[in-house]
Amino acid sequence: MNASSATSGAGGEYVRVARRGDIPAGTMIRVEAGGHVIALANIDGEFFAIDDTCSHEEASLSEGGLTGDVVVCPRHGARFNARTGRVLSLPAVRSVATYAVKVEGDDVLVGTEARRSAALPHRK
Ligand code: FES
Repeated sequence: MNASSATSGAGGEYVRVARRGDIPAGTMIRVEAGGHVIALANIDGEFFAIDDTCSHEEASLSEGGLTGDVVVCPRHGARFNARTGRVLSLPAVRSVATYAVKVEGDDVLVGTEARRSAALPHRK
């Protein structure tokens, strides 16, 4: 995805990463913004962005499953909350960063500033 245009605002610089139609509800895509590789999820029409790389080992969370707001890692099955980045189950024990998302018309923009919740386990 071409992320050539950017705007500034709360949450840092925003980079246009996708069109809304690229991400049907209940799906995720992998995008890049500000040097971060990000999993961008559409949860019932709302968009959320978390680190794409699992906090356990190298795996792309956007290639995993999305059920409601829960992302399941395709490699060993750790679960994360797509809204908050919080880890929900082993074998991962660390949460992943989140990124601000805004929609402008048909464009989806992601903030380049990684936001971290507490480093150690958060269980729902
Ligand atoms: S790499 Fe994600 S659970 Fe192991």
